[in-house]
Amino acid sequence: MRENPNYNEIYYQHTTSHSQVIDILTEQVIPLSELEGPMDWERFFGNTYPVEIEIGSGKGRFLLEASKRHPQVNYIGVERAQKYVEVTRERFEKHIRHFSVDRTSGTFSNVRLVRTDANYFLTRYVPETSVQAYHIYFPDPWPRKRQRKRRIFRNRDFLEALTRTLNSGDGRLYIVTDHAEYFQEIQERLAGLSVLRPMDASLRPDSDITTHYEAKYVLEGRAIYRAVYEKAAS
Ligand SMILES: C[S@@+](CC[C@H](N)C(=O)[O-])C[C@H]1O[C@@H](n2cnc3c(N)ncnc32)[C@H](O)[C@@H]1O
Repeated sequence: MRENPNYNEIYYQHTTSHSQVIDILTEQVIPLSELEGPMDWERFFGNTYPVEIEIGSGKGRFLLEASKRHPQVNYIGVERAQKYVEVTRERFEKHIRHFSVDRTSGTFSNVRLVRTDANYFLTRYVPETSVQAYHIYFPDPWPRKRQRKRRIFRNRDFLEALTRTLNSGDGRLYIVTDHAEYFQEIQERLAGLSVLRPMDASLRPDSDITTHYEAKYVLEGRAIYRAVYEKAAS
């Protein structure tokens, strides 16, 4: 397998100049540059609940359902595409209106959306051993040969940050994809990280919460591949 270059500062500057942190409930928007990394989750969320991060949260379907189901878990959706960030905000807004969610009830006070590149966020802002779970659902497979270097699981900085920031002992990584060849590559790359142990994928909690892509591909009858990893105790 060919290794690929790590992302560099120019790349970050190019892709992250409009990075923002969005509080879904209060609609407060803060430029990410105003926050200092590594972040203090307790200060950020105002509680000590565990933190779970969805990388490439897309249209926000998982983020909404999971954060509603687990009010005592803090969720961060990291999404770099502005259009999907907008779709996610609208999804929450519609839900709040439709179900007359009381904005003072605490519902959705556990969600933040971060519009930025996941590599940038993980390497600079996420503290060591501070994440209970990462959710990576339908990561872009970049199927064309010359584009495969863009695959997030090929990025060494990303893999280093992912394993460093997961909680030791019980931190989990959940992966779902429809792309058999990329799934194989992900498994091979993660097998090289001794700190991660593969688990029985059928044990993934909340597997009934489907993302936009999962719902679409299941309808099309595509095969879906799932993996769960746990970070070993240090
Ligand atoms: C194929 S979509 C899957 C979306 C969602 N997880 C789902 O299953 O419906 C991949 C998403 O990841 C986002 N994405 C890809 N690379 C990213 C990165 N480095 N940082 C943040 N978001 C990223 C894309 O913008 C896109 O929304």
